[in-house]
Amino acid sequence: MSRVLDEKYQALQAYTPGEQPQDMQYVKLNTNENPYPPAPGVAEAVAAEAGRLHLYCDPQAAALRDAIAGLYCVKRENVYAANGSDDILYFAFMAFGGDGVRFPDITYGFYQVFCDLLGARAERIPLKEDFTVDPADYMVPGGMVVLANPNAPTGMALPRESIEGILRANPDRVVLVDEAYVDFGGESCVPLVERYENLLVVQTFSKSRNMAGARLGFAIGQPPLIDDLNRIKFSTNPSDVNRMTQAAGIAALRANDYAMDNCRRIVETRAQTARRLSALGFEVLPSRANFLFARRDQIGGGELYRSLKARGVLVRHFDAPRISDFNRITIGTPGQMDALIDAITAILEEQSHANR
Ligand SMILES: Cc1ncc(COP(=O)(O)O)c(C=O)c1O
Repeated sequence: MSRVLDEKYQALQAYTPGEQPQDMQYVKLNTNENPYPPAPGVAEAVAAEAGRLHLYCDPQAAALRDAIAGLYCVKRENVYAANGSDDILYFAFMAFGGDGVRFPDITYGFYQVFCDLLGARAERIPLKEDFTVDPADYMVPGGMVVLANPNAPTGMALPRESIEGILRANPDRVVLVDEAYVDFGGESCVPLVERYENLLVVQTFSKSRNMAGARLGFAIGQPPLIDDLNRIKFSTNPSDVNRMTQAAGIAALRANDYAMDNCRRIVETRAQTARRLSALGFEVLPSRANFLFARRDQIGGGELYRSLKARGVLVRHFDAPRISDFNRITIGTPGQMDALIDAITAILEEQSHANR
Protein backbone atom coordinates (compact mmCIF):
# COMPACT_ATOMS: atom_id res chain seq x y z
CA MET A 1 0.00 0.00 0.00
CA SER A 2 1.29 3.46 -0.75
CA ARG A 3 1.55 5.80 2.19
CA VAL A 4 -1.86 7.29 3.00
CA LEU A 5 -1.17 9.65 5.89
CA ASP A 6 -2.30 13.06 4.73
CA GLU A 7 0.65 15.20 3.76
CA LYS A 8 -0.20 17.87 6.31
CA TYR A 9 0.47 15.40 9.15
CA GLN A 10 3.64 13.88 7.83
CA ALA A 11 5.95 16.27 9.69
CA LEU A 12 3.88 16.17 12.89
CA GLN A 13 6.02 15.59 15.98
CA ALA A 14 3.75 13.74 18.39
CA TYR A 15 3.91 14.31 22.14
CA THR A 16 6.20 11.89 23.96
CA PRO A 17 4.49 10.69 27.15
CA GLY A 18 6.64 9.78 30.15
CA GLU A 19 7.96 6.23 30.04
CA GLN A 20 5.70 3.48 31.42
CA PRO A 21 8.32 0.69 31.33
CA GLN A 22 7.22 -2.90 31.81
CA ASP A 23 10.71 -4.46 32.02
CA MET A 24 11.19 -4.10 35.77
CA GLN A 25 9.79 -2.38 38.85
CA TYR A 26 11.07 1.17 39.01
CA VAL A 27 10.66 3.82 41.66
CA LYS A 28 8.44 5.77 39.28
CA LEU A 29 8.88 9.50 39.69
CA ASN A 30 8.51 10.47 36.03
CA THR A 31 4.84 11.11 35.18
CA ASN A 32 3.46 13.14 38.09
CA GLU A 33 1.06 10.42 39.14
CA ASN A 34 -0.21 10.42 42.71
CA PRO A 35 1.61 7.75 44.75
CA TYR A 36 -1.48 7.00 46.85
CA PRO A 37 -4.32 4.76 45.61
CA PRO A 38 -7.77 6.06 44.60
CA ALA A 39 -10.10 7.15 47.41
CA PRO A 40 -12.14 4.64 49.40
CA GLY A 41 -15.36 3.98 47.52
CA VAL A 42 -13.89 4.47 44.03
CA ALA A 43 -13.13 0.79 43.33
CA GLU A 44 -16.60 -0.22 44.57
CA ALA A 45 -18.27 2.41 42.36
CA VAL A 46 -16.34 1.13 39.33
CA ALA A 47 -17.25 -2.49 40.12
CA ALA A 48 -20.94 -1.59 40.40
CA GLU A 49 -20.91 0.10 36.98
CA ALA A 50 -18.98 -2.75 35.36
CA GLY A 51 -22.16 -4.84 35.42
CA ARG A 52 -23.93 -2.20 33.34
CA LEU A 53 -21.35 -1.96 30.57
CA HIS A 54 -23.84 -3.18 27.96
CA LEU A 55 -25.56 0.24 28.25
CA TYR A 56 -24.20 3.54 26.94
CA CYS A 57 -23.19 6.08 29.54
CA ASP A 58 -24.91 9.44 30.05
CA PRO A 59 -23.40 11.69 27.33
CA GLN A 60 -24.24 14.74 29.46
CA ALA A 61 -22.42 13.21 32.47
CA ALA A 62 -25.08 15.07 34.46
CA ALA A 63 -24.53 13.43 37.88
CA LEU A 64 -20.78 13.88 37.63
CA ARG A 65 -21.07 17.50 36.50
CA ASP A 66 -23.47 18.18 39.38
CA ALA A 67 -20.93 16.70 41.81
CA ILE A 68 -18.15 18.88 40.38
CA ALA A 69 -20.42 21.94 40.38
CA GLY A 70 -21.35 21.31 44.02
CA LEU A 71 -17.73 21.18 45.13
CA TYR A 72 -16.71 24.31 43.22
CA CYS A 73 -19.87 26.32 43.99
CA VAL A 74 -20.92 26.74 40.36
CA LYS A 75 -23.81 25.36 38.29
CA ARG A 76 -23.97 22.29 36.09
CA GLU A 77 -23.97 24.50 32.98
CA ASN A 78 -20.60 25.90 34.07
CA VAL A 79 -18.99 22.44 33.98
CA TYR A 80 -17.66 20.40 31.08
CA ALA A 81 -16.38 16.85 31.69
CA ALA A 82 -14.06 14.94 29.38
CA ASN A 83 -11.88 11.91 28.92
CA GLY A 84 -8.81 13.50 30.56
CA SER A 85 -7.87 17.16 30.49
CA ASP A 86 -5.70 16.65 27.39
CA ASP A 87 -8.94 16.21 25.43
CA ILE A 88 -10.30 19.48 26.82
CA LEU A 89 -7.11 21.32 25.90
CA TYR A 90 -7.26 19.91 22.39
CA PHE A 91 -10.90 20.92 21.93
CA ALA A 92 -10.21 24.38 23.36
CA PHE A 93 -7.30 24.91 20.96
CA MET A 94 -9.61 23.81 18.15
CA ALA A 95 -12.47 26.03 19.28
CA PHE A 96 -10.64 29.19 20.33
CA GLY A 97 -7.14 29.08 18.78
CA GLY A 98 -8.07 30.28 15.28
CA ASP A 99 -6.17 33.56 15.73
CA GLY A 100 -3.16 31.89 17.26
CA VAL A 101 -2.28 30.64 20.73
CA ARG A 102 0.12 32.29 23.18
CA PHE A 103 1.95 30.23 25.81
CA PRO A 104 5.37 30.20 27.52
CA ASP A 105 8.42 28.75 25.77
CA ILE A 106 8.82 26.35 28.68
CA THR A 107 5.51 24.69 29.52
CA TYR A 108 3.40 21.59 28.94
CA GLY A 109 4.63 20.04 25.68
CA PHE A 110 1.18 19.22 24.37
CA TYR A 111 0.37 22.90 23.69
CA GLN A 112 2.82 23.02 20.78
CA VAL A 113 1.66 19.61 19.51
CA PHE A 114 -1.98 20.75 19.44
CA CYS A 115 -1.01 23.86 17.49
CA ASP A 116 0.92 21.75 15.00
CA LEU A 117 -1.93 19.28 14.64
CA LEU A 118 -4.53 21.99 14.13
CA GLY A 119 -2.39 24.33 12.05
CA ALA A 120 -2.83 27.04 14.71
CA ARG A 121 -0.16 29.73 15.02
CA ALA A 122 1.86 29.12 18.19
CA GLU A 123 3.38 32.18 19.83
CA ARG A 124 5.89 30.94 22.39
CA ILE A 125 6.70 33.67 24.89
CA PRO A 126 9.99 33.20 26.76
CA LEU A 127 9.77 32.83 30.52
CA LYS A 128 11.98 35.27 32.38
CA GLU A 129 15.54 34.25 33.26
CA ASP A 130 14.31 32.96 36.65
CA PHE A 131 11.61 30.84 34.90
CA THR A 132 8.73 33.02 36.06
CA VAL A 133 5.94 34.22 33.74
CA ASP A 134 5.84 37.98 33.17
CA PRO A 135 2.09 38.77 33.07
CA ALA A 136 2.82 41.93 31.03
CA ASP A 137 3.88 39.68 28.14
CA TYR A 138 0.25 38.54 27.86
CA MET A 139 -1.33 41.99 28.18
CA VAL A 140 -0.71 42.93 24.56
CA PRO A 141 -2.88 42.02 21.55
CA GLY A 142 -2.56 38.45 20.33
CA GLY A 143 -4.35 35.11 20.20
CA MET A 144 -5.84 32.90 22.88
CA VAL A 145 -3.74 32.73 26.06
CA VAL A 146 -2.88 29.36 27.60
CA LEU A 147 -1.11 29.25 30.95
CA ALA A 148 -0.44 26.18 33.04
CA ASN A 149 -0.68 27.45 36.61
CA PRO A 150 1.31 26.04 38.36
CA ASN A 151 3.45 25.69 35.28
CA ALA A 152 4.97 22.41 34.16
CA PRO A 153 7.75 21.37 34.28
CA THR A 154 8.93 24.24 36.48
CA GLY A 155 6.23 23.91 39.18
CA MET A 156 6.18 27.71 39.59
CA ALA A 157 2.87 29.53 40.00
CA LEU A 158 1.36 32.93 39.34
CA PRO A 159 -0.96 34.53 41.91
CA ARG A 160 -4.62 34.82 40.94
CA GLU A 161 -4.38 38.60 40.70
CA SER A 162 -1.78 38.34 37.92
CA ILE A 163 -4.11 36.10 35.92
CA GLU A 164 -6.90 38.57 36.57
CA GLY A 165 -4.78 41.29 34.97
CA ILE A 166 -4.32 39.07 31.91
CA LEU A 167 -8.08 38.41 31.77
CA ARG A 168 -8.85 42.13 31.89
CA ALA A 169 -6.33 42.90 29.15
CA ASN A 170 -7.84 40.26 26.82
CA PRO A 171 -11.61 40.78 26.90
CA ASP A 172 -12.02 39.39 23.37
CA ARG A 173 -9.74 36.38 23.78
CA VAL A 174 -10.16 33.16 25.69
CA VAL A 175 -7.68 32.86 28.57
CA LEU A 176 -7.31 29.18 29.42
CA VAL A 177 -5.77 28.40 32.80
CA ASP A 178 -4.60 24.80 33.02
CA GLU A 179 -4.80 23.97 36.73
CA ALA A 180 -3.68 20.34 36.55
CA TYR A 181 -1.50 20.87 39.65
CA VAL A 182 -3.41 23.59 41.51
CA ASP A 183 -4.36 21.44 44.51
CA PHE A 184 -0.72 21.15 45.56
CA GLY A 185 -0.45 24.80 46.59
CA GLY A 186 -1.55 26.99 43.67
CA GLU A 187 -4.29 29.61 43.73
CA SER A 188 -7.27 28.55 41.63
CA CYS A 189 -8.98 30.93 39.22
CA VAL A 190 -12.37 29.19 39.57
CA PRO A 191 -13.65 32.07 41.78
CA LEU A 192 -13.07 34.43 38.82
CA VAL A 193 -15.32 32.49 36.45
CA GLU A 194 -18.50 34.38 37.33
CA ARG A 195 -16.80 37.71 36.56
CA TYR A 196 -14.89 36.86 33.35
CA GLU A 197 -16.68 35.42 30.35
CA ASN A 198 -13.29 34.85 28.65
CA LEU A 199 -11.93 32.54 31.39
CA LEU A 200 -11.77 28.77 31.01
CA VAL A 201 -10.27 26.85 33.93
CA VAL A 202 -9.20 23.28 33.19
CA GLN A 203 -8.53 20.69 35.90
CA THR A 204 -7.94 16.95 36.08
CA PHE A 205 -8.58 13.96 38.34
CA SER A 206 -5.18 12.56 37.30
CA LYS A 207 -3.00 14.22 39.93
CA SER A 208 -4.65 15.41 43.15
CA ARG A 209 -7.56 12.97 42.87
CA ASN A 210 -5.44 9.83 42.40
CA MET A 211 -7.07 8.73 39.12
CA ALA A 212 -4.59 9.14 36.25
CA GLY A 213 -5.60 5.76 34.82
CA ALA A 214 -9.32 6.56 34.80
CA ARG A 215 -8.94 9.52 32.36
CA LEU A 216 -11.14 12.27 33.72
CA GLY A 217 -10.75 16.01 33.31
CA PHE A 218 -13.13 18.94 33.62
CA ALA A 219 -13.40 22.59 32.72
CA ILE A 220 -15.23 25.40 34.46
CA GLY A 221 -16.33 28.50 32.59
CA GLN A 222 -19.38 30.54 31.67
CA PRO A 223 -22.07 28.63 29.72
CA PRO A 224 -21.22 30.00 26.23
CA LEU A 225 -17.66 28.61 26.45
CA ILE A 226 -18.93 25.30 27.86
CA ASP A 227 -21.50 25.12 25.03
CA ASP A 228 -18.74 25.68 22.46
CA LEU A 229 -16.74 22.77 23.89
CA ASN A 230 -19.88 20.62 23.91
CA ARG A 231 -20.49 21.43 20.27
CA ILE A 232 -17.11 19.91 19.41
CA LYS A 233 -17.55 16.96 21.75
CA PHE A 234 -20.97 16.14 20.32
CA SER A 235 -19.45 16.35 16.84
CA THR A 236 -16.83 13.74 17.69
CA ASN A 237 -17.51 11.40 20.63
CA PRO A 238 -20.41 12.34 22.92
CA SER A 239 -19.83 9.33 25.18
CA ASP A 240 -16.20 10.12 25.88
CA VAL A 241 -16.43 9.74 29.67
CA ASN A 242 -17.30 6.12 30.15
CA ARG A 243 -19.71 4.74 32.73
CA MET A 244 -17.03 3.52 35.12
CA THR A 245 -15.10 6.77 35.03
CA GLN A 246 -18.23 8.85 35.67
CA ALA A 247 -18.99 6.69 38.73
CA ALA A 248 -15.36 6.79 39.88
CA GLY A 249 -15.32 10.59 39.62
CA ILE A 250 -18.46 10.96 41.74
CA ALA A 251 -17.05 8.61 44.38
CA ALA A 252 -13.71 10.46 44.39
CA LEU A 253 -15.48 13.80 44.94
CA ARG A 254 -17.47 12.34 47.84
CA ALA A 255 -14.11 11.53 49.42
CA ASN A 256 -12.74 15.03 48.88
CA ASP A 257 -11.10 15.04 52.34
CA TYR A 258 -9.09 11.95 51.40
CA ALA A 259 -7.70 13.74 48.34
CA MET A 260 -6.94 16.96 50.19
CA ASP A 261 -5.20 15.04 53.03
CA ASN A 262 -3.03 13.27 50.46
CA CYS A 263 -2.22 16.60 48.82
CA ARG A 264 -1.04 17.91 52.20
CA ARG A 265 1.16 14.83 52.65
CA ILE A 266 2.64 15.34 49.19
CA VAL A 267 3.30 19.02 49.92
CA GLU A 268 5.16 18.01 53.12
CA THR A 269 7.18 15.37 51.29
CA ARG A 270 7.95 17.97 48.61
CA ALA A 271 9.36 20.39 51.19
CA GLN A 272 11.51 17.65 52.78
CA THR A 273 12.76 16.47 49.38
CA ALA A 274 13.60 20.03 48.30
CA ARG A 275 15.65 20.51 51.49
CA ARG A 276 17.48 17.22 50.96
CA LEU A 277 18.27 18.01 47.33
CA SER A 278 19.50 21.49 48.25
CA ALA A 279 21.78 19.91 50.88
CA LEU A 280 23.20 17.73 48.09
CA GLY A 281 24.06 20.84 46.07
CA PHE A 282 21.02 21.05 43.81
CA GLU A 283 19.29 24.20 42.69
CA VAL A 284 15.58 23.49 43.19
CA LEU A 285 12.92 25.78 41.71
CA PRO A 286 10.15 26.79 44.16
CA SER A 287 7.34 24.37 43.35
CA ARG A 288 3.59 24.54 43.97
CA ALA A 289 3.03 21.24 42.15
CA ASN A 290 3.53 17.53 42.92
CA PHE A 291 7.01 17.59 41.41
CA LEU A 292 10.32 19.41 41.70
CA PHE A 293 12.48 20.75 38.91
CA ALA A 294 16.13 20.58 39.91
CA ARG A 295 19.66 20.77 38.54
CA ARG A 296 23.16 20.45 39.92
CA ASP A 297 26.50 21.72 38.72
CA GLN A 298 28.92 19.07 37.52
CA ILE A 299 26.27 16.60 36.44
CA GLY A 300 24.20 17.04 33.31
CA GLY A 301 20.46 16.48 33.43
CA GLY A 302 20.64 13.65 30.90
CA GLU A 303 23.52 11.99 32.74
CA LEU A 304 21.71 12.09 36.07
CA TYR A 305 18.51 10.75 34.46
CA ARG A 306 20.42 7.79 32.95
CA SER A 307 22.34 7.03 36.15
CA LEU A 308 19.14 7.09 38.18
CA LYS A 309 17.39 4.83 35.68
CA ALA A 310 20.26 2.34 35.90
CA ARG A 311 19.62 2.29 39.66
CA GLY A 312 15.89 1.71 39.21
CA VAL A 313 14.68 5.29 39.75
CA LEU A 314 12.81 6.99 36.89
CA VAL A 315 12.61 10.77 36.64
CA ARG A 316 11.75 12.94 33.60
CA HIS A 317 14.42 14.68 31.56
CA PHE A 318 13.59 17.11 28.75
CA ASP A 319 16.33 17.54 26.19
CA ALA A 320 15.14 21.04 25.31
CA PRO A 321 16.71 24.51 25.20
CA ARG A 322 17.14 26.23 28.60
CA ILE A 323 16.11 23.18 30.64
CA SER A 324 18.35 20.30 29.58
CA ASP A 325 20.36 20.61 32.84
CA PHE A 326 17.23 19.90 34.88
CA ASN A 327 15.24 16.86 35.83
CA ARG A 328 11.60 16.85 36.81
CA ILE A 329 11.06 14.68 39.86
CA THR A 330 7.54 13.62 40.86
CA ILE A 331 6.87 13.61 44.60
CA GLY A 332 6.13 10.06 45.68
CA THR A 333 5.80 8.48 49.11
CA PRO A 334 8.47 9.30 51.73
CA GLY A 335 9.92 5.81 51.05
CA GLN A 336 10.20 6.49 47.32
CA MET A 337 11.91 9.81 48.02
CA ASP A 338 14.40 8.04 50.35
CA ALA A 339 15.21 5.72 47.44
CA LEU A 340 15.76 8.75 45.17
CA ILE A 341 18.04 10.52 47.66
CA ASP A 342 20.02 7.31 48.32
CA ALA A 343 20.49 6.78 44.59
CA ILE A 344 21.60 10.40 44.00
CA THR A 345 24.01 10.22 46.96
CA ALA A 346 25.55 7.04 45.53
CA ILE A 347 25.84 8.58 42.04
CA LEU A 348 27.53 11.71 43.37
CA GLU A 349 29.95 9.63 45.51
CA GLU A 350 30.84 7.49 42.52
CA GLN A 351 31.43 10.62 40.47
CA SER A 352 33.69 12.18 43.08
CA HIS A 353 35.77 8.93 43.35
CA ALA A 354 36.14 8.89 39.57
CA ASN A 355 37.35 12.50 39.59
CA ARG A 356 40.03 11.91 42.24
C1 LIG B 1 0.05 20.89 32.71
C2 LIG B 1 -0.71 19.65 32.38
N1 LIG B 1 -1.94 19.77 31.85
C3 LIG B 1 -2.67 18.69 31.52
C4 LIG B 1 -2.18 17.42 31.71
C5 LIG B 1 -3.02 16.26 31.25
O1 LIG B 1 -3.66 15.58 32.25
P1 LIG B 1 -4.76 14.47 31.97
O2 LIG B 1 -4.22 13.23 32.59
O3 LIG B 1 -6.00 14.98 32.64
O4 LIG B 1 -4.96 14.35 30.49
C6 LIG B 1 -0.92 17.23 32.27
C7 LIG B 1 -0.41 15.88 32.46
O5 LIG B 1 0.66 15.60 32.85
C8 LIG B 1 -0.16 18.39 32.60
O6 LIG B 1 1.07 18.26 33.09
